[in-house]
Amino acid sequence: MKNVVVTGGAGYIGSHTVLSLIEYGYNPIIVDNFSNSSPKVIERLEKISNRDIKCYNIDCCNKDELDKVFKENDVFGVIHFAGYKAVGESVKLPLKYYENNLISLLNVVEVMHNNNSNNLIFSSSATVYGDPASVPIYEDFPLHVTNPYGRTKLMIEEILKDYVKANPDFKVALLRYFNPIGAHESGLIGEDPNGIPNNLMPYITQVCIGKLDHLNVFGDDYDTIDGTGVRDYVHVLDLARGHSLTLKKMEEINDNLLIYNLGTGKGSSVLEVVHEMEKVVGHKIHYVIANRRAGDIATCYANCDKAYKELGFKTQYNLYDMCQSSWNFQQKNPNGIR
Ligand SMILES: NC(=O)c1ccc[n+]([C@@H]2O[C@H](COP(=O)([O-])OP(=O)(O)OC[C@H]3O[C@@H](n4cnc5c(N)ncnc54)[C@H](O)[C@@H]3O)[C@@H](O)[C@H]2O)c1
Repeated sequence: MKNVVVTGGAGYIGSHTVLSLIEYGYNPIIVDNFSNSSPKVIERLEKISNRDIKCYNIDCCNKDELDKVFKENDVFGVIHFAGYKAVGESVKLPLKYYENNLISLLNVVEVMHNNNSNNLIFSSSATVYGDPASVPIYEDFPLHVTNPYGRTKLMIEEILKDYVKANPDFKVALLRYFNPIGAHESGLIGEDPNGIPNNLMPYITQVCIGKLDHLNVFGDDYDTIDGTGVRDYVHVLDLARGHSLTLKKMEEINDNLLIYNLGTGKGSSVLEVVHEMEKVVGHKIHYVIANRRAGDIATCYANCDKAYKELGFKTQYNLYDMCQSSWNFQQKNPNGIR
C-alpha cells in the first residue's frame, strides 16, 4: 500500500478524505497540529475504518519535525489540507494567514523534494476566481482574489506552477473546491467549527438544534432565483473521493500539472438550502434577511466536465443527502467533537 501523508487530516475535508484513501487502497498518514480539530477525530476514523491510522501531532511550519515523518515512512504523495480558512479572520489578521498557509506549503514541498516524494495535491478554492464574469466557472477563467485567505491560495498555485516548471519529475494537482457540506453517514465526523460558524451549513444546523436563535441571510436582492446568494454545494464524501481519483490519475499519467474544479456543477440559493433542511428537520427554520456582506458575490458554481472526463469524478449525493447528513452529525455531536 502506498503511503500518503495527509496534512490537516483531522480537519473537516481531510478526515473524510482519509477514509476515501483507505477505500482506494492507500495508506493515509495524518499530520495535524489540531489547531482547528480534535485528536478525537483520529479515534473516530479508526473506529469507522476498523484499523489503526498513523498520526503525527506536528505543525507543518516546523520543517525538521515534518522531515522526520518522511524519514520514517516511504511517502508516495501528499495531500496538503493544513491551513487556515476563515476569510473574515484573514482580513483582520493577514500575517497569521500568510505565515501559516505559505510557510507550511513551502516546507511540505522542500521536505518532499529532499525525500524523493513526488506527488502533491493542494487544496485550492473557488475563491481564486473572485467574482467571475459568467457562470458556470471553467478552470481556464481568469484568476482574481479579494482577501488575504484567497491570496494565499492564489500565491500557492503560482508557487507550485513555478516549481513544476523547474522540476519536471514533480507532479502537482490543484483542486479548486466549491462549497463542501455534509458529513459521513456514521455521524462520527463532520464540520466542527469553533465558536460561531462562518459557513452556512453549520450555522443552519446550530439554529435547528437551538444553539443559535436564527440564521442571518446576507442579502435578498441579488440577481438570482430568489434574491439570495447561489453557491455550488458539494457533499464532502464526493469531494473526498475526488482526491483519491486524482491520486490514481497521477499514478497513470506524465503531465505534471493538473487543475480541476470539484463541485456539482449546480448552484443552490441560501433559501433553497434552508428549505431543503426544513424537509429534513420537519419544521420551519427561523431566518432573518440582513444586509449584504462586503465582498460576497451573487452566484458561483462550477463546470466540472474536466474532472468528469479526466478523473471520472461524478457526484453521487444531492442537496437532501447533504442536509440530512449534516443534521445527523449535528444531532450526534451537539457540542462538536469532544
Ligand atoms: N471547507 C471549505 O469550505 C473549503 C473550501 C475551499 C478550500 N478549502 C481548503 O481545504 C483545506 C481543508 O479545509 P477544511 O474545511 O477541512 O478545514 P479544517 O480547518 O477543518 O482543517 C484544516 C486542518 O489543518 C490543521 N492545521 C492548520 N494549520 C496547520 C499546521 N500549520 N500544521 C498542521 N496542521 C494544521 C487544522 O488543525 C485542521 O485539522 C484548507 O486548506 C482550506 O483552505 C476549504
